[in-house]
Amino acid sequence: MTKKSILVARAVFPEVLERLTQHFEVESNQADTIWPREEFIRRLQGKSGVFTTGGERIDADLLKACPDLKICANMAVGYNNFDVPAMTAAGVLATNAPDVLTETTADMGFALLMATARRVSESEAYLRAGQWTKWSYDMFTGTDIHGSTLGILGMGRIGRAIAKRGGHGFGMNVIYHNRSRLAPELEAQVNAKYVSKTDLFKQADHIVLVLPYSAENHHTVAAAEIALMKPTSTLINIGRGGLIDENALAVALQANKILGAGLDVFEGEPKVNPALTALKNVVLTPHIGSATVPTRQAMANLAADNLIAYLTQGQAKTPLNTL
Ligand code: DGY
Repeated sequence: MTKKSILVARAVFPEVLERLTQHFEVESNQADTIWPREEFIRRLQGKSGVFTTGGERIDADLLKACPDLKICANMAVGYNNFDVPAMTAAGVLATNAPDVLTETTADMGFALLMATARRVSESEAYLRAGQWTKWSYDMFTGTDIHGSTLGILGMGRIGRAIAKRGGHGFGMNVIYHNRSRLAPELEAQVNAKYVSKTDLFKQADHIVLVLPYSAENHHTVAAAEIALMKPTSTLINIGRGGLIDENALAVALQANKILGAGLDVFEGEPKVNPALTALKNVVLTPHIGSATVPTRQAMANLAADNLIAYLTQGQAKTPLNTL
């Protein structure tokens, strides 16, 4: 039987590529070139599947131009690069990579929270610049994490993993807001109290954004929400950049309206708003929430599993739509 053809849009672990080549004719991109959209579409011609990494937009126009496509497998839990209704309409399966990155991404949320609250990046830059000449009582004083109130916006799997870290590990009082309230048994498991979005912004000492991004929650944190926050509080974003109005955040940080922010995701990434890079009270990381070797391997293997299972047996492991 002739093998189906697939496209792997970005560089991946060689062993994952090797697994895929056992089942498919694979066009890969180990040079990790960011193909212009026209080139991406051209390379998709005749391909039954594509392995994407979250940056490749799959929409109605692309689907129209790629009639052979049957499945797009994202190596990411977030899938805001997919227009899922358009994919369903075109008979194309969408899959993501949930679960395997939950704990790793929750770790990163906490790393950013701690670095921001305790001013780790700012003080390290000061030290490296040779500016540290003496100890002083108020040098780089931050805010406490233990015993404080942790506010989580978006209480999916990653939100709950962060809640556990905060509650069990740091004795934090955990509050959350989510589109829908958790079932009582899940709420009890993470020992978190459901509050309105306004109360979350007013009461929390540290706010972590972990909700999926969509057009509906674009800039869900803007000047009005930031104005509710305590002057000693921090804002952490490990969801998607578009959740925050970055200009409003930069204005607030510049005026020290909050203590600081920790951001792993940006609206125009990989470009970062210069208003943010100009500030000291923000910790900035280049979308590395899931970046540990075992987790990235698990994500890549899950995307590969989805391609193999769907194109050889008609059943994907983690589908996002029903055809
Ligand atoms: C995800 O899985 O959505 C991450 O943000 C991608 O690294």
